[in-house]
Amino acid sequence: MSDKTILRALRGEVLPTPPVWMMRQAGRYLPEYRATRAQAGDFLSLCYNSDLAAEVTLQPIRRYGFDAAILFADILLLPQALGADLWFETGEGPRLSTITDADGLRALKGKDDIHDHLAPIYETVRILTRELPRETTLIGFAGAPWTVATYMIAGRGTKDQGPAHALKAADRATFAALIDLLTDATIEYLSKQVEAGAEVIKIFDSWAGSLKGQDFHDFAVAPAARIIAALKARHPGLPIIAFPREAGQGYVGFAKKTGADCVAIDNSVSAEWAAEHVQVDGCVQGNLDPRHMVTGGQDLVDETRRIVKAFSKGPHIFNLGHGITPDANPDNVALMIETIRKG
Ligand code: CP3
Repeated sequence: MSDKTILRALRGEVLPTPPVWMMRQAGRYLPEYRATRAQAGDFLSLCYNSDLAAEVTLQPIRRYGFDAAILFADILLLPQALGADLWFETGEGPRLSTITDADGLRALKGKDDIHDHLAPIYETVRILTRELPRETTLIGFAGAPWTVATYMIAGRGTKDQGPAHALKAADRATFAALIDLLTDATIEYLSKQVEAGAEVIKIFDSWAGSLKGQDFHDFAVAPAARIIAALKARHPGLPIIAFPREAGQGYVGFAKKTGADCVAIDNSVSAEWAAEHVQVDGCVQGNLDPRHMVTGGQDLVDETRRIVKAFSKGPHIFNLGHGITPDANPDNVALMIETIRKG
């Protein structure tokens, strides 16, 4: 069995010092990331350039010695592989062609037709398996079907996921068929990442918080459970992290219902609450408000210590509650890591 700290925490071990990595750790707050992105031309060209994508994945590992590296890619590459148009408007975010009805869904490719398009991503994983330090765990990822569907239906990021909720209300069968296709395609995509060398998989459901009641079960819990069961059947022992962001009470029991080994927690709940209600079922990760990476100082030190203490009785991987933002100060990341490792 591997002695990598992240893998030990995911097996349920309580470590004296929690291992640490950060969502969006390869990103615009780092000058070396901005330089490599300029070399690639733009964000999507960077994602599909395996050598440069591996390089930006490694940058935060070299600079900070994080315990895990996360594959550099994006959750919207899968819809693109299924046939959606995708581009990024500078300073605004992603834009996609929209799926508004059954005809739009029928025009998409099948779950097994994605691999030619995604081959550069698998190659990035293979490069990383050779280049990462031996103690660093490699995390592969995909978006959860609901979150990916919200972008495919609206054609962009939305505050309230209104267009996706509207399609769900108007034509639940078409909406459910899109979720099913994404679930199947996500299983194939993640399985190839694991075959290429990803050691852990994370499923990002960034908009899980807007699903309530039966919808939360049908479109957040059930797809995650199906993806996790299929991946574990094909790759026995594969550890999986689920991130149903802003699920609130939905975090309780999420690991048991889906089979996830670890639940990532945003910063809308307290670490003390999450320790009592979520960590009882296994490993947890996250919770530090990303704004501390901008503001730093004693507040950052105090909050980091508070989260380490709150989660100290169970398995824990230190992380932020969401991605680090472009205006973060790289020195604050170093201060966070020093606080975790030196107490
Ligand atoms: O965490 C990592 O360092 C690994 C790489 C990664 C990226 N995106 C790179 C990225 C991961 C895991 C993602 C996941 C992702 N992408 C999510 C789920 C997690 C979350 O943040 O809630 C979502 C919703 C997306 C879709 C997406 N990609 C949006 C909405 C945007 C624009 C917003 C923004 O931050 O600019 C992106 C762009 C993106 N993805 C960037 C990076 C580093 C910034 C693009 C740039 O360099 O210009």
